[in-house]
Amino acid sequence: MTTRTSSQGILADENAEKREEIIELLKKAYWMEIETVMSYVANSVNPDGLRAQEIVEALAQDIQEELGHAQQFAARIKELYGVVPGSLEFAAEQSYLQPPEHQTDILHVIKGVIEAETGAIEHYNRIIEVTDGVDYVTQDMVIAILRDEEGHRRLFEGFLREFEADGLA
Ligand SMILES: [Fe+2]
Ligand SMILES: [Fe+2]
Repeated sequence: MTTRTSSQGILADENAEKREEIIELLKKAYWMEIETVMSYVANSVNPDGLRAQEIVEALAQDIQEELGHAQQFAARIKELYGVVPGSLEFAAEQSYLQPPEHQTDILHVIKGVIEAETGAIEHYNRIIEVTDGVDYVTQDMVIAILRDEEGHRRLFEGFLREFEADGLA
């Protein structure tokens, strides 16, 4: 039976503890995506001004992608025999993406998005490390999601560059 068990990878009984560890990391990732959806909805609507246009359009586009990420994390939690948590377990963390005092303060939004994407990038790199050699399916999924987040951050770093070049940041 040993051969059979080891051939079941992360779903093997002997990997129950590792599975629990990965499920907890996936739950955190799930909540990060859900909170990002909330923050991007608000920040794709609130900003005012000419300079805000590109930013709100980019954020509005990202919402669907982040929602898709949340759904992927949820599905993977279930596949690993976990349960997707209910909304009462949610605890907000994105203090840096709250509405700014002035809705023309688009720099606040750009920096907040970069911070959110950086947080996701750090957490997903951790999942990729923890799953290495034991759960290739989760790892593969998270590598693809990580690429999306790197793309999001790069886009907003470009917006920040423009602000810096214009002496506004
Ligand atoms: Fe995401
Ligand atoms: Fe993102």
